[in-house]
Amino acid sequence: MCGIVGYIGKEQAAPFLLDGMSKLEYRGYDSAGIAVMEGAKIRLEKCVGRLEALRAKIAGDMPVGTIGIGHTRWATHGRPCDRNSHPHADSSGKFVVVHNGIIENYLVLKEQLIEKGHVFLSETDTEVVAHLMADLWDGDFESTVKKVLKEIKGSYSLVFMTEYEPKKIICTKKDNPLVIGLGEGENFIASDIPAIISRTRRTFIMSDGEIATVSADGVWVQDINGTPISKKVFVVNWNAEAAEKGGFEHFMLKEIYEQPKAIRDTMTGRVDKETETIAFPELNWTPEMMASINKIFIVACGTAYHAGIVGKYYLEQLARVPVEVDIASEFRYRSPLIDGNTLCIVISQSGETSDTLAALREAKKLGARTLGVTNVVGSAVARESDQVVYTYAGPEIAVASTKAYTTQILAMLMLAIYVGRLRGTLGEARAKELVHGLGLVPEQVHELLENVDQIKVFARQYASCEDAFFLGRSLDYAVALEGALKLKEISYIHAEAYAAGELKHGTLALIVEGVPVIVLATQSDVYDKTVSNLQEVKAREAVVIAIGFVGDEVLKQHADSVIYIPKTDKYIAPLMAVLPLQLLAYYAALTRGCDVDKPRNLAKSVTVE
Ligand code: F6R
Repeated sequence: MCGIVGYIGKEQAAPFLLDGMSKLEYRGYDSAGIAVMEGAKIRLEKCVGRLEALRAKIAGDMPVGTIGIGHTRWATHGRPCDRNSHPHADSSGKFVVVHNGIIENYLVLKEQLIEKGHVFLSETDTEVVAHLMADLWDGDFESTVKKVLKEIKGSYSLVFMTEYEPKKIICTKKDNPLVIGLGEGENFIASDIPAIISRTRRTFIMSDGEIATVSADGVWVQDINGTPISKKVFVVNWNAEAAEKGGFEHFMLKEIYEQPKAIRDTMTGRVDKETETIAFPELNWTPEMMASINKIFIVACGTAYHAGIVGKYYLEQLARVPVEVDIASEFRYRSPLIDGNTLCIVISQSGETSDTLAALREAKKLGARTLGVTNVVGSAVARESDQVVYTYAGPEIAVASTKAYTTQILAMLMLAIYVGRLRGTLGEARAKELVHGLGLVPEQVHELLENVDQIKVFARQYASCEDAFFLGRSLDYAVALEGALKLKEISYIHAEAYAAGELKHGTLALIVEGVPVIVLATQSDVYDKTVSNLQEVKAREAVVIAIGFVGDEVLKQHADSVIYIPKTDKYIAPLMAVLPLQLLAYYAALTRGCDVDKPRNLAKSVTVE
């Protein structure tokens, strides 16, 4: 997730920009750059790597000027390198822009601009915005920005500067954060409050569709039709650490709440809501290629492995290909049966997990075609896989994975629909139904996350227990595995997930009075059987918390309590059913006083075997 900083005032811009960008480092980045108005000319300085690399590059020759914008980039389109770093300029260098988000239609726009003679220097989606500014320039900064906004689709915070009107910065946003800081004879722009609180605490938050013209003396906000908007200024009273977490107590909670955006971003460019179809422009697979695949392996570790289990259900049921899911550390040593008709999908948030990488190399050695599903552009998994599907969850800082998991299962569902259509195993009407359902998910997830009081109460009630069990069948079982892992890793409560039908083959012996059992019941084809299993544990006096769809009265009759999730398709249900489990784990860990973001003995990225 990129960081944006802007300054206009009476002091030198560059030192503030560098300082502000350093306050956004926690968001994760792979390159950095600034643009400063030096006299009447914009000077651009950018490079790959940490901020120190940029500081070293300009040491002794800092850009001089009191207006500037800066950016830390988390790569989405194009690998991390100097050319792909922001700010981006048009061919004349008179327009510069920094961007956070994804310009969905950049390829079409880029082709049109190239035809008109624009020369592109980077692989980014952002560069089209700078060229569009030049192309649509009508002699008025605000009016040209509005014309650009009418052309682009996607999600963004954008900040513009131009040599034609050097005493202004213009910024706007859609689905990405942007705040304005108000000073005396100076004003500030940032993607996040930590970047500016050393200089001002008077801020306002930009809303989608608003366009702010920022000068040293004031800030003027309007909508695309020119209607003025008056903003409510508030005074930030967070300390710097709280500001990094966006006001949340922990990164994990912040990341749980970032899921609507992570899901929306991961669907961008893939889910077409109008035609209700799925596309993967980065794969361009053909029906012939897909017909030649007779087996898929999904290989990963931990939470990513659990996403792989969900992926198996999707690919087998929608695309009718046999799928094996393997723990990477097992796969690499078990001589898997692989040939040129095998597709090996490795899933990894970081793209650097040692066992997953070794498994990927083993699969390649044995002749499989490989696909990496990862959240980090330019990571080892991305570099070494034949093809890559990125999840766009943004950097995940808490050790316990949350938004990476939901975007991984989303990627697997989109992939299964795509492959199912290519193989002719999934009918058009059913595919449309699923895509329609996917389009509703960000809002449904948002809604669910707004009503968590009941979950907090349960978590506090059961935080002192020693053991907990998670039950489900089919996709609910796959989600149960992830729920148990979350609870174990951050609250240190012993938790086990079972396929509900398997319980009576041994584990039922552990179910005694008062043991909390979380039963997931979202899968219609096995629903009745799950309810029977629920009754079995209830008969042993377990305390049963069920998770089911809104309006399910049957669960209410049998369980002690029910957590409802919005009604959706059975294949989409995992995207929602996992949320209460993440929150249960979070609030249980909080009640037990655990170090939520950094659980004992665990590391975010396991780069050793
Ligand atoms: C658990 C968790 C880990 C990771 C696992 C793989 O919350 O985060 O189980 O899922 O270490 O990491 P990646 O996805 O980076 O390969």
